[in-house]
Formats: sequence, structure tokens, C-alpha cells
Amino acid sequence: MSSALRIGMRQAMRCGAPGIRRSVHPAIGASSRSLASKTSPKQAVAAVQAAPSQQSSSGYFPEEPAGPIMKTEIPGPRSKEEIKRLDKVYDTRNLNMICDYANSYGNYISDMDGNVLLDVYAQIASIPVGYSNPALLLAATSPQMVSAIINRPAMGNFPQSDWAEILETGLLKAAPKGMNQVFTGTTGSDANELAYKAAFMWKRKQERGGADVEFTQEEMDSAMNNQQPGAPQMSILSFTTGFHGRLFGSLSTTRSKPIHKLDIPAFDWPQAPFPMLKYPLDAHAKENAEEEARCLAETEHIITTFPSPPAAIVVEPIQSEGGDNHATPNFFRGLREITRKHNILMIVDEVQTGVGATGKFWAHDHWNLSDPPDMVTFSKKAQAAGYYFGNDELRPNKPYRQFNTWMGDPARAILFRAIINEIERLGLVQNTAETGEYLYNGLEQLAQKYPNEIKNLRGKGQGTFIAWDSPRRDEVLKKAKSVGINCGGSGATAVRLRPMLIFQKKHADIFLEGMDKILQS
Ligand SMILES: Cc1ncc(COP(=O)(O)O)c(C=O)c1O
Repeated sequence: MSSALRIGMRQAMRCGAPGIRRSVHPAIGASSRSLASKTSPKQAVAAVQAAPSQQSSSGYFPEEPAGPIMKTEIPGPRSKEEIKRLDKVYDTRNLNMICDYANSYGNYISDMDGNVLLDVYAQIASIPVGYSNPALLLAATSPQMVSAIINRPAMGNFPQSDWAEILETGLLKAAPKGMNQVFTGTTGSDANELAYKAAFMWKRKQERGGADVEFTQEEMDSAMNNQQPGAPQMSILSFTTGFHGRLFGSLSTTRSKPIHKLDIPAFDWPQAPFPMLKYPLDAHAKENAEEEARCLAETEHIITTFPSPPAAIVVEPIQSEGGDNHATPNFFRGLREITRKHNILMIVDEVQTGVGATGKFWAHDHWNLSDPPDMVTFSKKAQAAGYYFGNDELRPNKPYRQFNTWMGDPARAILFRAIINEIERLGLVQNTAETGEYLYNGLEQLAQKYPNEIKNLRGKGQGTFIAWDSPRRDEVLKKAKSVGINCGGSGATAVRLRPMLIFQKKHADIFLEGMDKILQS
């Protein structure tokens, strides 16, 4: 760190300079709870050091509220006013809640009217270790982070001197089995598109005869006209009801809802059927196995006959946006076999399932693959994004083929490292597995009590990655807010649970009680 930066930081800490002290640590307010976001770095260090290394009776965030605090209906008067103001300059039709993050803590999210809700949606499954987490605050206020933010490097050309160290001690520490390299991007859609590009370049390199074979003039000329052979007729195979993002390439592999795709030109790429399983899975093992065999056979047929041959398949371990659709490890092992047999790549999209939510760090760890996937994409809870891989052949044959200005963001990688450390320190993957089991059992009981309200309960043994179908889903989600629970949906009818990794049994109890109340009404 330069001395100017060090002096600037020191002064900022001493004087409460705007942009560092005030914005990161707003003055301690009226609330008696000492929110992490109102904590100085010194206090944050103390908080991290003092925090329990094991789950204690008071939990990971000892000063969390004991339950939701509801003061007004949602949106309340202050939120309504702010929404009106915002709508003049920003489309608010997607808006769920207008939030006060300085007052959000642990598992609880606050709105502008002082309502504090148990959050089991967690920014569309992307907050791993709690709002205002002191360990993240510490990482966020470190000189290394400040430099990464204000001197944002163009990583491909000018990586910072500690980039290898940040990767080795962070992202790569969490790399899936068999993977020792990463290409960083910015969002889940970006991560997938980068992986698709890597797959196409890998395939064409093979077809051309290896990394040393030069491009032909015809290839170079035709590429400039978006024509073959430079822009080859190849594809990425995805599955019905899958979701892989909304940028142009990723959107062509997204098959969840027409509203995501309408009016946008798309590649003519194939989709294979994703198994439509019956729940609970163990009670329908035989027919589910037949359904999976059918889908595997169809996938293989498409791979061998589709006019634009796939260079890769992309698949989610649990289809998330598309409605929380599960398949068994057998299905995924079958996909691995088929992709090997036909020399195409297997990309596992762990953007939503990754980083602990299923009770394993990566959801595909549940499959016991002896032969790992070729690429695993990530984002959301990682805050950073990109794809992991282990095969050197997946590096393009020349520089600048897989490239962009930022190629990710060291600030997000530093944050992911702090998240990984926090997950390890507190054993949060194990916590999620245990809490998930408890929550699932509670929901099973609720499903017995309300069989017409909770249908197709799913996610057993998958941590807190739990969902069910509800005949009045949108009403249930709305009513959940009135009892202080922020909950999301997926697909057309599913209620999906995506709590953070710090969600514990006491939070599950609050959630189950709240659901009981809603389903009675
Ligand atoms: C499985 C999966 N892949 C990709 C994406 C796209 O990520 P992003 O919205 O960050 O582009 C999502 C987002 O929900 C996702 O769930």
C-alpha cells in the first residue's frame, strides 16, 4: 500500500472523513443494538476475535433481534414516499422492499419504516454470512480492499502484486475437487458466458488439430462476417426449465420463463428434458429412475443429432429460478458419462447452489463423481464470479481470446476470501446441513397439517435449499411479510427458501411458526 493511501486511511479513521468512516460506520444511532454497520474497525476486530468459534446458544450474531419487529404494513408510509420518489428516475416495478441496510443485521433485514424481517431470501440467495457481518466489515475496511476499490485494476493486463496471493488464499482454497485454476468475471451470467466461450475455443482447437495450428485466412475473414467456419455452428446444450442468466449467450441457454426471453434474438441451441421427478424422491425411486433414464437417453440423442453440435452441456445441480427442480446423483453421473463418451464438456452452474447452501460447499459434492466436471461456474454468495477448471487445455491457445477490461474485481475476491474464512471458522456448511434437516422435518410436519398448502416438499438432505409448491404462492409470500418473514418464490408455484448460512434452529422455529400462522388463515 502506498504511504499516501496509508495516511489517507489513518486520517479518515481519525476525522471520520466522508466516504470512509461515515459511510461505512454511520454514527451510533438511537437503537440499543450495536449493529455491525455501526461498528468501528477496531470494534470489528474485537467482535471477530470475540465471536464464538462454535455455534453458541446466543448464535453467531448475539445481538440479533429475538424475532421480527413489525411496526407498519409493508410498504409503510416512509417506504411509500421513497418509492414514489425513486420511481420518477428508476423503474420500481420489480421492487420488493426498500431497505435500510445500516439497520439490517445477521439474518434480519430492515425496511425504511423500522420493520425488521427474518430474511430467508437473502438478496436472491446471495448473502452468505449475515448482514453487517463484522468479519466482512473488517475485510471491507482493510487497506488492501481500499486500494482494490479505488485503484481498480484491469486484471488481465495489470494484475495487482498480491493477486496470486488473494486467489490462493481465497477463491482457490474453496475450489471444487479437481480444479486448480479460475477465470474471474462479474456476474453469474457473465461467468456462464465465459465458460461457454472457453468450451467453444477448446472444441475448435481440437478440431483444428491442436494449440499450435494457426487460424486460416478463411476462418479469420468469415469470423468478421459472423459466418462459418470462423464463427462455427456449435452450441451449448441446456435443460428444460434451467436458468443460466440473461445476457445474450447465457439467455440462449435459459429455459425457465418466456418473459425472460421474449423479443431477444437467440442462438438456435438445443434443450434436453430435465427430469420431472415426483416428491418425496425416496418414495418414488423406481419411476424417478425411469424418468431420469429417459432424459439421459434423450440428451444423448440430441448431442449426437442436433445440427449445431454441442461443445458443452450446462446444468444446475438443483434448477433454482426454474422452480427448484431436483435430480438424483445418478442423473448427474449419467451426464458426466455421456459428455465424456461424446467428448464434450460438462459445465456445472453453481451460481445459486454453490457456497454452502446445500449442506456441502458445492452442491455437486453430493454426486460423488469420480471424474469432476470440466468447469464450475459461481457467483451470488461468493460475491465474486467466474468459473473454476482444472484442465490446462481449457486455456485458449492465444492471449486476448478470453479477456475484458476488468476480468472480475479484486475487491469481490477479497470479500469472498473473508466469506470463506468465516464459513470455515464457524463451521457454517455443517450448520447449514444440520439446520436444514431440522427445518425440513418441521416443514414435513406442516405439510401433514396442511396437505393442500404444502405440496411436493423438496430439498431433503440438501441443507436449507428447500422448496415446496403452493397453490396460492404469491399470496403466501405476501402474507409472510405481514408476520415478519421475507421469503421468495421460484418457477410458477414454488416457495423457495434461501436463508443465509448463519440460519440456525431458532430462526427455523420462527419461520415455521410464521408459516403455521399464514397457512391457518
Ligand atoms: C443458476 C443460475 N445461473 C446464473 C444466474 C445468473 O446470475 P446473474 O443474475 O448474476 O447474472 C442465476 C441467477 O439467478 C442462477 O440462479
